[in-house]
Amino acid sequence: MSHLRFEELTEKNIDDAIAVCNQSLRYDSFDPSVLRKIVFQDTNFEPRLAFVAYEGSEPLGFSAGVRLIKQPAENVDPSAAWIKILAGVAGNETDEVDVVSSLCDRVEVELLNLGGKVVRISDYARARMWPGIDIRYETILEALEKRGYSKVGEAVDYLVALRGFSIPRRIQRLRGELEKRGIEITLATKAVSESLCGWVKEKFGPGWAYEVAISIENAEKTRSGTLVAKDVKTGEIIGFSTHGALERDWFGPIGVDEKNRKSGVGSVLLFESLKLIRLNGVTEATIPWTGHLFFYTQVPGINGIRHYHIMSKKLI
Ligand SMILES: CC(C)(COP(=O)(O)OP(=O)(O)OC[C@H]1O[C@@H](n2cnc3c(N)ncnc32)[C@H](O)[C@@H]1OP(=O)(O)O)[C@@H](O)C(=O)NCCC(=O)NCCS
Repeated sequence: MSHLRFEELTEKNIDDAIAVCNQSLRYDSFDPSVLRKIVFQDTNFEPRLAFVAYEGSEPLGFSAGVRLIKQPAENVDPSAAWIKILAGVAGNETDEVDVVSSLCDRVEVELLNLGGKVVRISDYARARMWPGIDIRYETILEALEKRGYSKVGEAVDYLVALRGFSIPRRIQRLRGELEKRGIEITLATKAVSESLCGWVKEKFGPGWAYEVAISIENAEKTRSGTLVAKDVKTGEIIGFSTHGALERDWFGPIGVDEKNRKSGVGSVLLFESLKLIRLNGVTEATIPWTGHLFFYTQVPGINGIRHYHIMSKKLI
């Protein structure tokens, strides 16, 4: 283990990290923009927490950690730490599990030195790769279990084919019923962003409010956005659904006010947002990080599910 050499991730060695990630993490795909986004462009980025591992001159691994040092402002907690990504391939003298374990060790030591107390992999809400470790990445899970991590949660991504997408008749009927009840669904404008984000923050927390805010802010540039369901008479917000906030092909978050659930608002919002994603030219959408298994099964094009284990351990 000890003969691995670690280099901080920089623009100089980013291609080494990409090569390792594409070789090791075969259910994902990487180019420099992916790593820049999850590492350097994260508002909580700290340079000492992203490493490439080498055996001689051969890159064998990559990992990046993060702490909640700046955002979301109301939840800042420098002791809360995540490892956002882990990748490792076997070398001449090191097997894959040992590469992953050594990297993990290196990031854990840095996190601990900086004041991290608990580390989680990898349900970090902002610039993220996955909500946990894809259960098919067996060597990563094996390395983590050996290091004393245990499963603290799980989540799935639904992968949705949008070729041939159309809104089902049931949803069209539901939309008609909502209109009769005086519930209108519109795309949020910058003018309403602040009040909408305030509502989302109060009901669902700052992480989702952040995603709603950036979906509206970047709407012109990336064609992202947020739909809002509103009671026309009272002006009360009933629900929202966002598309394209963190990634062009991502749906969510979505939320409906508790007292208005189970009457079709969520389903109509879901399909209307998927339609907007399709109209942006996306043919494969992702509904990332959910535990709502039965709400999303109503989407006809689901052609894959990724299942993640969220892992955690105390550093001290
Ligand atoms: C998920 C959520 C948005 C659903 O909103 P909603 O307005 O209650 O949704 P609807 O009334 O359209 O549909 C609800 C039910 O439709 C059901 N459904 C699925 N397919 C269906 C079909 N073909 N026909 C009829 N009902 C169907 C689902 O089982 C779902 O039940 P569940 O909520 O117990 O899972 C809402 O529960 C919510 O805001 N939850 C908290 C926030 C959250 O968890 N968001 C999702 C994060 S990924």
